[in-house]
Amino acid sequence: MTNRTLAIIKPDAVKKMLTGKIIDRILKGGFAIIHMKQIHLTKKQAEGFYAIHRDKPFYNDLVAFMSSAPCIVLVLKKENAVDELRKVIGATNPDLADEGTIRKDFADNIQNNAIHGSDSNENAIKEIAFFFSTSEIL
Ligand code: CMP
Repeated sequence: MTNRTLAIIKPDAVKKMLTGKIIDRILKGGFAIIHMKQIHLTKKQAEGFYAIHRDKPFYNDLVAFMSSAPCIVLVLKKENAVDELRKVIGATNPDLADEGTIRKDFADNIQNNAIHGSDSNENAIKEIAFFFSTSEIL
């Protein structure tokens, strides 16, 4: 499904009460919210979600951060959703993110960067399935 992607409003942004502002940016970007839930990831879930990064030096800190407090998980719909969301959220490192992007405006640093967005259609499908059952998203 090339018109769907997964976003996670991360614990830093949820704690700073930025959820509403970030959802507003997503809606203004033309996305429909297909599904949304709050979840406090266990360490095991965070390890599984970010398993692709398990060999990176930042992996343990990332897992600790993502399981430190609740986050909001969203399934979003728009034509070319993966690339379109990545434009709205900006570069991983907020110092390098374009003006007006979510990370430029709300992220603390390269790890606590306010929001995750799937980086390919293949990963979007996997990531949506990680959080939502088929019956939930149909
Ligand atoms: P995200 O888009 O969720 O994908 C992987 C996450 O790893 C990324 O956002 C950041 O939270 C984190 N990350 C990526 N690169 C670094 C880095 N160099 N140092 C610390 N955290 C990083």
